[in-house]
Amino acid sequence: MELQSNQPLSGGPVLGIETSCDETAVAIYDGQQGLLAHELFSQVDLHARYGGVVPELASRDHGQRLIPLLDVALKTAGLKGDDLGAVAYTAGPGLIGALLVGATTGVGLALAWNLPALPVHHMEAHLLAPLLEADPPAFPFLALLVSGGHSMLVDVADFGEYRILGETQDDAAGEAFDKVAKLLDLPYPGGPALAALADDGDPARFALPRPMLRRPGMDFSFSGLKTAVMLKVRELSEGGLLNAEDRRDLAAGFQQAVIDTLQAKSIRALEATGYSRLVVAGGVGANRQLRASLRGALEQRGGRVYYPRIEFCTDNAAMVAYTGHRSLAAGRATSTAVHARPRWPLDEL
Ligand code: KG4
Ligand code: ZN
Repeated sequence: MELQSNQPLSGGPVLGIETSCDETAVAIYDGQQGLLAHELFSQVDLHARYGGVVPELASRDHGQRLIPLLDVALKTAGLKGDDLGAVAYTAGPGLIGALLVGATTGVGLALAWNLPALPVHHMEAHLLAPLLEADPPAFPFLALLVSGGHSMLVDVADFGEYRILGETQDDAAGEAFDKVAKLLDLPYPGGPALAALADDGDPARFALPRPMLRRPGMDFSFSGLKTAVMLKVRELSEGGLLNAEDRRDLAAGFQQAVIDTLQAKSIRALEATGYSRLVVAGGVGANRQLRASLRGALEQRGGRVYYPRIEFCTDNAAMVAYTGHRSLAAGRATSTAVHARPRWPLDEL
């Protein structure tokens, strides 16, 4: 049974909880004072030997880490549970077991402290993350969301008004980074390792495809590019291992192909919407070459690109606490039911 909670809105700071994948995070955001605390534990070492996230291990570890992180966050902020105004938790999309740990803990804490609880959409939180920075973008803006699970261009007319303009037809950008990193024998997590290798490579040596560029529209596709890298790896490694130069150049060529594609589609979407502000968020938004390239492209057009700080590109709870704060201010429904939706399209918000 779903109860609409009827606790008064105290206007106190909002606790945010993030457990959708492999980072356990807790943060506290206050409407007047801003971010008061943000704590994160990354499970990278736990999953590294399996080459990817093991859902069962992720859930168990969230369960162990969450309350100790909460204690640290409350101490840092100098607050007790009942000083808070609400509890916001990531309700989806994500791994169901992992989501349930954050959702049940969040709703449990809200009931214990007599606070409203708010389910937060993980991708909405990502796209609002740049609003945590000084000199944030004004609405409306275009958002390029590129993470391990999603790649999309979103017309953000206002808070809560989202229209998806384009999406990946197959792999997400981060997923492609991770898969190509595996082809190049790089350790998990692949994205940052591949980016580091690409820094010293020649992006022009291998002619790799720029998927979907010749087709109209704003959708992406990265699986053909991944296959092109796979075929190159096979060709080059015949009779032995890839040499260091081949690996560097393939990494650089792949990264450049992804950047060119994301940039061209973003510009197409800016033209379609008439917007001059581009927000880039999600784990791939931490890629330094992508950041530099988009910054240059937007400057050339007289527009501007906005990023969260690098640590708020990847999963974190600051963006969840902030989204909870905005949701409360906008009068979104709070609920004592446990919400966990592994699949949750952004435009169903
Ligand atoms: O947003 P995020 O932390 O988790 C999801 O919601 O998916 O994104 C993680 C993804 C992974 O695929 C990771 O390889 C990628 O972001 N990533 C990067 C970089 N840092 C993280 N990809 C390219 N370059 C990076 N520097
Ligand atoms: Zn994410």
